[in-house]
Amino acid sequence: MSLLVDAFGREVEYLRLSVTDRCDFRCVYCMTEDPCFLPREAVLNLEELAWIAQAFTELGVTKIRLTGGEPLVRTDCDELVKLLGKLPGLKDLSMTTNGSRLTKFAKPMFDAGLKRLNISLDTLNPKLFTQLTRNGKLERVVEGIDAAIAAGFKHIKINAVILKQQNDHEVLDLVEFCRNRALDIAFIEEMPLGEMDERKQARHCSSDEVKAIINTRYPLALSNKRTGGPARYYTMADSPVHIGFISPHSHNFCHECNRVRVTVEGQLLLCLGNEHSIDLKSIVREFPGDIERLKTTILQGIHYKPKQHEFDKNGVQILRFMNATGG
Ligand code: 5AD
Ligand code: SF4
Repeated sequence: MSLLVDAFGREVEYLRLSVTDRCDFRCVYCMTEDPCFLPREAVLNLEELAWIAQAFTELGVTKIRLTGGEPLVRTDCDELVKLLGKLPGLKDLSMTTNGSRLTKFAKPMFDAGLKRLNISLDTLNPKLFTQLTRNGKLERVVEGIDAAIAAGFKHIKINAVILKQQNDHEVLDLVEFCRNRALDIAFIEEMPLGEMDERKQARHCSSDEVKAIINTRYPLALSNKRTGGPARYYTMADSPVHIGFISPHSHNFCHECNRVRVTVEGQLLLCLGNEHSIDLKSIVREFPGDIERLKTTILQGIHYKPKQHEFDKNGVQILRFMNATGG
């Protein structure tokens, strides 16, 4: 049982740990074209990340997901995976990646102890892929996905953010891609991070709309698969593939949220839709290796986990971009 229990009785057992704000892509919904990245010293180093992970696992966290930015642009990422892979109590170590470097890193990561991958893929059209990522190459990512399958990863999930009049006509193609490779897929509504403008509002595509498109070919049945996260999963009659929907706009599952995040700057975020944070970096820098002190701070901090997110309330805008938060 986790010692991390918040003021509303929710047990926190899942940590999303952002290891870099940098990325080789510039996805339109995630970054500006010319983002300003943090100076290296502002980012937690390998040891600091490992101490924080250790503190959380000693408090009862059993699942850690490495996020970014793009985790694999960090050259010491395999070292980190090896360190975390040894933490007693950690049952599940996973990573969210854009897939661009998987041809090179899928195998070493798998061998280092990484068990699960979420790979972003919004379109199968090479031109649109380069447009949405502003510089990515579709071919490399598809090769990366296949390299991950070949490396032995069993539970790969594709993440697709669907935007109206951009890739909403590809929903069924993406489903077919996943059926052919027996991969799960989650369709994600764009989250209102960074500055919200009319263009972003116009391209919003709800999970219900995506679901309706899939239902025209494959009637979806609600699955009982739950991850403690915001996704709801469905199945098709003739395939093992799970299709998830993550709908920060249209549905609110905060009451069963079991996760917290640590940003690339070592800020503990209790909720993605809330600005409140707790500074862990100052602790690891002032008291290097003092796991007990970290644990005390985290335990106190967990009481600030808010009851629910505030995306929908009038006037509340979260001005952090995703790459700084940790997808
Ligand atoms: N809204 C929804 N999903 C986003 N991601 C990044 N930015 C956003 C956003 N604004 C997703 C990416 C990837 C993961 C890291 O987070 O598509 O799957
Ligand atoms: Fe990079 Fe992922 Fe952000 Fe795209 S969504 S720019 S791949 S961090």
